Amino acid sequence: MKQIAIDGPAGAGKSTIAKEVSKILGFVYIDTGAMYRTMGLACLKAGIDLADEDKVSDICDRADIDVRYIEGVQHMFLEGEDVSTDIRKNEVSMAASNVSKYQRVRTRLVKLQQELAERYNVVMDGRDIASKVLPNADLKIYLTASVECRALRRYKELIEKGEECELAAIEKEIAERDHNDMTRANSPLVKVDEAIEVDTSDMTIAEVVDRILELFGELE
Ligand code: DC
Repeated sequence: MKQIAIDGPAGAGKSTIAKEVSKILGFVYIDTGAMYRTMGLACLKAGIDLADEDKVSDICDRADIDVRYIEGVQHMFLEGEDVSTDIRKNEVSMAASNVSKYQRVRTRLVKLQQELAERYNVVMDGRDIASKVLPNADLKIYLTASVECRALRRYKELIEKGEECELAAIEKEIAERDHNDMTRANSPLVKVDEAIEVDTSDMTIAEVVDRILELFGELE
């Protein structure tokens, strides 16, 4: 099976790029952030303190989550309900970042991600794909962009969806989430040595997609 790993901070364009690359190559796009978001949502629904590692881990161990691919699009189910739209809400982003710190939460999801990669050719995006989930991936990309640029992209996305938000607040949240994700003890976001860094700040989506296809082609 072929594997392309894309890691990077929030808002670097990972999911847009990964979706496009997987469509062109006929691979399955696996959005691991959506899985952590689903766990974050499960904890928000349970109304528990996200700083309580044991409680969060218990909820996440017991949560009935399912990943389904419907017409090539990943859907997340929680307790039988399709929560693919709910998990995109801004409040769920920080909850996902908070619950993803805990090892028990990660162990369950990493296993699920590795099982999917055994069955399909995948483009998988996240924070620990190259470092933990798919250490033998055929291509490892570290996708990044300036904080200002990532905040502006997220702001536009949320406005388009009709969510009320402020650019300055989004920028602050993104910086906070970067800090959380990069400094946690378990599987922090890192650029592994073999990963190729692509800074998307001044690139169009098409340019980034072409660059990745070119890099993948070079390696085949
Ligand atoms: O990529 P995203 O914004 O949907 O991810 C939401 C959060 O989930 C992110 O802030 C950190 C966590 N996450 C993780 O710890 N490991 C992954 N492979 C993917 C996401």
